[in-house]
Amino acid sequence: MSPLPRSLLPDTATVDAGGALSIGGCDVGELAAEHGTPLFVYDEAHVRARCREAVAAFGPGRVVYATKAFLCRAMARLAHEEGMLLDVASGGELHVVTAAGVPAEACTFHGNNKSVDELRAAVTLGVRNVVVDGFDELDRLDALHAGGLPVPDVLLRVTPGVHAHTHEYVATGQDDSKFGFNLANGDAAAAVARAQRSPAVRLVGLHCHIGSNVFAAGSFARATEVMATFAATYDLPQLVLGGGLGVAYVAGEDAPTITEWAAAVLGACDELGVTADVSVEPGRSIVAAAAVTVYTVGAVKVIPGVRTYVAVDGGMSDNPRPVLYGSGYEAFLPRATGADRPLAARVVGKHCESGDVLLFDARLPADLAVGDLLAVPVTGAYGHSMGSNYNKVPRPPVLFVHDGEARIVVRRETYDDLLATDVG
Ligand code: LLP
Repeated sequence: MSPLPRSLLPDTATVDAGGALSIGGCDVGELAAEHGTPLFVYDEAHVRARCREAVAAFGPGRVVYATKAFLCRAMARLAHEEGMLLDVASGGELHVVTAAGVPAEACTFHGNNKSVDELRAAVTLGVRNVVVDGFDELDRLDALHAGGLPVPDVLLRVTPGVHAHTHEYVATGQDDSKFGFNLANGDAAAAVARAQRSPAVRLVGLHCHIGSNVFAAGSFARATEVMATFAATYDLPQLVLGGGLGVAYVAGEDAPTITEWAAAVLGACDELGVTADVSVEPGRSIVAAAAVTVYTVGAVKVIPGVRTYVAVDGGMSDNPRPVLYGSGYEAFLPRATGADRPLAARVVGKHCESGDVLLFDARLPADLAVGDLLAVPVTGAYGHSMGSNYNKVPRPPVLFVHDGEARIVVRRETYDDLLATDVG
């Protein structure tokens, strides 16, 4: 019934007397009229504010933006300008970041199955750190070194045996994980010993990441404790405690701020007497709440006594999270941002399957009609970045809005783009 909580909108969102939403000084209805829908609108000031908060809380050089959450060249430059390092988890992410002009020395290279080519590119370009995920990767680094490659500074990713309270698909700190060297079975200690005597790598620290969209500060404190205790044996200069801070997606959710997260992590480090440089890798908490996705309603189907379906012009191709994880979102009409939402409906996309759901149980204004714009807030992380071309639907553009100016940082895909890699 109740209106959309304003706290779910980007920082610079304003609503005029008639209920119309502006972000970054730009009227959302006008943006949709000019650029079409679906459309990702990012509040640049919001992203910068979260970067600054993180750098202020953890210290310069100690915050690594996880580009998997949202990446394009403008985003890479923005994060770099704001004093963040960048976490890349594939050769492709490294390519986009360096194509943006960000130096490889500002990048940390991740991944649980880095190919020889990816490792060669990362080391040749001179990334700041390679985060080694397993023994096979140490073998590959040995071989590359034997082939004449320089010696990279590496961190070892440790699986601390801490089960974060989050969706099973994004929990990564438990023993049963594809990521990292297990602490419990001695693999982590064996990996440290091997790396320390290897001529192919320079071991500079340890890394862990317990999962994503974690709300419980206690999970971070617990992982910090386990990692600090293990790291104390080795006296290495760096300790990286991953990303994972959750954000509020729907009414009633309340996530810690970046500053509160820092207090939990750094407080635990202080208590444990950690002397290493402690850094973190936030993705979601930097960009999620900065963006809204704007769609157009194309069909309303009422099945009396069963359900109302509201179909929009995007769907699981621009936001697979509801289908993958059952993630919840809110929706509203940007022409009536603060309106009551008595209409219960399922918001679906335009893809050819029943699983194509954006909001399983949406609440919307009663006067919603075909042709209305419908917006979903908190779509700035893992939406665009996990998008697809399912049904050959072109991907939406990304706009950065700031001080009344909107700039296209990723243009809308065309039908010809769909043929760009199709060599016939
Ligand atoms: N560091 C490492 C090593 C990671 O694997 C991740 C995320 C991060 C940092 C950033 O975590 P964040 O602060 O964004 O939670 N697609 C899923 C999330 C997958 C996260 C993967 N790793 C989702 O949409 O919820």
